Amino acid sequence: MLEHDVIIVGGGLAGCRAAVEIARTDPNLKVAVVAKTHPIRSHSVAAQGGMASSLQNVDPEDSWKAHAFDTVKGSDYLADQDAVEILTREAPGVIIDLEHMGVLFSRLPDGRIAQRAFGGHSHRRTCYAADKTGHAILHELVNNLRRYGVHTYQEWYVKRLILEEGQAKGVVMYRMTDGELAVVRAKAVMFATGGYGRVYNTTSNDYASTGDGLAMTALAGLPLEDMEFVQFHPTGLYPVGVLISEAVRGEGAYLINSDGERFMARYAPSRMELAPRDITSRAISLEIRAGRGIHPDGSAGGPFAYLDLRHMGREKIMSKIPFAWEEAHRLLGIDAVNQPMPVRPTVHYSMGGIPTNISGQVRSGAGGLVEGFFAAGEAACVSVHGANRLGSNSLLECVVYGKVTGATIAQYVQNRKLPTVDEKRYIQEAEEQIQALLERPGQYRINEVRQKFQDTMTEYCGVFRSAELMQTGLQKLEELQKQYQEVFLDDKGKSWNTELVEALELRNLLVVGQMILTAALNRKESRGAHAREDFTDRDDVNFLKHTLAYYSPAGIDLDYMPVAITMFEPQERKY
Ligand code: FUM
Repeated sequence: MLEHDVIIVGGGLAGCRAAVEIARTDPNLKVAVVAKTHPIRSHSVAAQGGMASSLQNVDPEDSWKAHAFDTVKGSDYLADQDAVEILTREAPGVIIDLEHMGVLFSRLPDGRIAQRAFGGHSHRRTCYAADKTGHAILHELVNNLRRYGVHTYQEWYVKRLILEEGQAKGVVMYRMTDGELAVVRAKAVMFATGGYGRVYNTTSNDYASTGDGLAMTALAGLPLEDMEFVQFHPTGLYPVGVLISEAVRGEGAYLINSDGERFMARYAPSRMELAPRDITSRAISLEIRAGRGIHPDGSAGGPFAYLDLRHMGREKIMSKIPFAWEEAHRLLGIDAVNQPMPVRPTVHYSMGGIPTNISGQVRSGAGGLVEGFFAAGEAACVSVHGANRLGSNSLLECVVYGKVTGATIAQYVQNRKLPTVDEKRYIQEAEEQIQALLERPGQYRINEVRQKFQDTMTEYCGVFRSAELMQTGLQKLEELQKQYQEVFLDDKGKSWNTELVEALELRNLLVVGQMILTAALNRKESRGAHAREDFTDRDDVNFLKHTLAYYSPAGIDLDYMPVAITMFEPQERKY
């Protein structure tokens, strides 16, 4: 059996930052990171626009408290304010630390780190590396794994969390190169497995964002928090859905409809294109619904809006947001210096996730903690984003809470023994499950069920929701869950059986989808990214609380948990 003091699942920003913190705190600890891709290909690498921090390099009026207020207001007052305080107070320090690790941030003429405007932030506080910020940070963090002697298991798919008597003891994992199964036992397990964008048919997320960590946590009987809050990024490139960074609007681009109008004046007059994402995504969807969207031939009534950069000029576009230009050019043949880009909302981020306390330890419910289990980054819900995340707060969350959780774990494992794990039992169980999948005489192909599932979630639990829609969605999901029991695989082999991995991922996607729909159906109000057409107002009396959803094959049970309000009383949210 493989053994480590700490096993971290996920090789993105949060996982790598935690590993570095543990190794810095106690170089004698045996730390390993498991990733289903090479860590440099984790989805964090695709983050573009930047990382928020009140460094005051551009705006001396900024402060951690202003950043905290913007974050809480952006969250529609659902964020836990004690967690937001840590996030925003720590932000300047973690940026400087990253710089010392070698991250190449873009610069002001005097050499200090540059900062740009971003949606929902009242000051220019987003630090960036052109529009490839995730790339710049992740490469340095992965380099640091080697420097600190962190072991990496690359292209291993973690299949199961071992949780016994309320204690996380390790994981069961599958090596994709040759089908080898292994059990790892550890004094602490951390999930930093990222999001679940692939629950939907149009997303900015990569193919690996299948919510595995969330599903494994739910299948182990632990709750997931606030799953109803799904972030739609306003500017997915139509029709593919890939991200056109908010940095493009931060640097001055306009959103226009088929009348050539900057329509954000109707929805957020004081912030215009730099309103928070929930508001901007709804605005684009409403313009399209009202017949002021645009068709590919330029006529009115179509499925997208325009993101117009033409007034910005070639030099600014090529120096500040070269990747956005490159994407539109490579994918659609559009030269954004001279042509507007077609955009519409695309699924981007999960505000909810595995509930943790402010030290990164996973909650077993509203009042307890799980021994040996930690989480951070997009997979976790600490909750700093509440009902709607502000752009450039997610890289920050990964780095701050990666660090905080790493520090917690380094202390936690001191003087703890490796747990006892029945390796044979877990290997046998995994072998039997895989064999059953390989031998199943089904009638459906994976991609067929997955596509129907993604279309269902997109149609029945999208930007706008209602009880009627979501009830239909849940019925359809039940049917798809039955179909999943009848999927068959063509590939029966052990070497690079990606079809098998896709089948395991699809099971996870289905679990996550059911959690999202059920939590959304039961939140009878509109708050942040959760916009109900049958309950259009925010309802603080009944719903200023976090949802906890528990999975069982018989259905989902719901519980609720109070919001930590330590600094700012909830107010009406206007921009
Ligand atoms: O638009 C963007 O560059 C995305 C940033 C974020 O999600 O924080």
